[in-house]
Amino acid sequence: MSETAMPHPLLETFAQAGQGQVFAFWAELDAAGRRALLAQAGEINLGEVAQLTRTLLGPGGAAGVDLSGLVPAPFVARPESGGDGAAWARARAAGEEALRAGRVAAFTVAGGQGTRLGYAGPKGTFPVTPLKQKPLFQVFAEKLAAAGRRYGRPLPWFIMTSHANHAQTEAFFAEHRFFGLDRARVHFFRQGRMPAVDFSGKILLAARDGIAMSPDGHGGSLRALRRSGALDLMKDAGVDTITYFQVDNPLVRCVDPEFIGWHLLHGAEMSAKMVPKAYPEEKLGHFCLQHGRLVVIEYSDLPLAVQREIDPQTGRLRYLAGSIAIHILDREFVRRLAAGSAAGTGPALPFHRADKKIATIDAAGNPVKPDRPNGAKFEMFVFDALPFARNGLVIETRRADDFSPVKNADGVDSPRTAREDLLRQYARWLKSAGAGVPTDGSGLPAVVLEVSPLFGDDEDSFARSWAARVPRPEVTAGLYLE
Ligand code: UTP
Repeated sequence: MSETAMPHPLLETFAQAGQGQVFAFWAELDAAGRRALLAQAGEINLGEVAQLTRTLLGPGGAAGVDLSGLVPAPFVARPESGGDGAAWARARAAGEEALRAGRVAAFTVAGGQGTRLGYAGPKGTFPVTPLKQKPLFQVFAEKLAAAGRRYGRPLPWFIMTSHANHAQTEAFFAEHRFFGLDRARVHFFRQGRMPAVDFSGKILLAARDGIAMSPDGHGGSLRALRRSGALDLMKDAGVDTITYFQVDNPLVRCVDPEFIGWHLLHGAEMSAKMVPKAYPEEKLGHFCLQHGRLVVIEYSDLPLAVQREIDPQTGRLRYLAGSIAIHILDREFVRRLAAGSAAGTGPALPFHRADKKIATIDAAGNPVKPDRPNGAKFEMFVFDALPFARNGLVIETRRADDFSPVKNADGVDSPRTAREDLLRQYARWLKSAGAGVPTDGSGLPAVVLEVSPLFGDDEDSFARSWAARVPRPEVTAGLYLE
């Protein structure tokens, strides 16, 4: 029988699920078009789509999140904000020991679409450093190389991409010879996708032979770690602890022994870093406890009046702890959550609905570019794993040493702010090592310079390298320390 005459079982399955429109143009597609469409359709879990349509698109589906029983979450304060210095020292020692034992892998989520930045390539290829214009991926690669050297154990690095940017990401690393890392230790895998649906739950086509699919959110990383075999690779390598960070944050301490140590000593399955919110309306999620469970409530879900509440004892914001998307995950915790959600038997990350303008085609197959939202995308968020974690822990970090994301083309959280925060960090390190650096009131140096993470990736390592550098370089425009 010819390919044309033979109906594919997926067509029947989709028709029975009320999603027959996905194959509306089947009869006119050539073999390549049919293969492409079937491959996409095969990725879709129709039961999951039906359930999301019922729960998120049905009556009450757009209702706000449950805020009952919410209180601010406790967190471990840094020594300079009143925390126990000896306990931080113990945490550092425990983290360093784990790193020396090779128990830690780095994990970057880089599957986002980066729409706000409006940059054509994968975000990790975006140039961020002030002088050398190093791309984000190179900044992380050098931080990982520095940690590998310091602890005598190179860290494996797992990078989650999307279908849209996977090939470009791999090619970028190959072109740059993996920035000096051992390529056998760098692992790329794609995250999952979800179909976009109209407001009645019908899956939308992007073309006659293509479904409107988009990445399933950074929370999809847990499923993808399992599905891709990354967790098994980690297990074989003796890795049980995963340091998770986002591709958009050049300041992140990718390998932070204190954070790793706190996580391990606390017996946590998942840990998170917080920064005190700079002002009530700052767009960060809030660490809270809800009926005893650690949760993150997004800024858009917490009423402004609540965000502005002041704690009478401290005089600071009551909901102070802002989430900056830096985590430590226990390998088997990830496996348990991912397996439970795959089988539909265990706890699973919830999906969130985002109403979007989704480019699609009409019944005649002509392109439609809507000027208002015409459907919904479904995404998972990694912080939704926190309530499932045993002994979930939040620790404080210094914003200036950990967080300055590149989200927007201009304004807050943009390439300019990240570049300036990097410059301020170099100036602080230089000053504390005893070098004279003219800065403005915000700590921004008057000259453009750059420090490679291979020279120093924190105040201590910088100070050591600086002390060892003879003759001592002059701090002038164009200074590059490597
Ligand atoms: P954002 O929430 O900033 O989204 O991602 P984004 O897609 O990168 O950017 P916009 O919203 O379109 O402007 C935060 C982090 O999570 C990753 C991103 O790559 C970034 O590191 N992410 C996000 C994924 O890996 N997959 C996703 O599906 C979404």
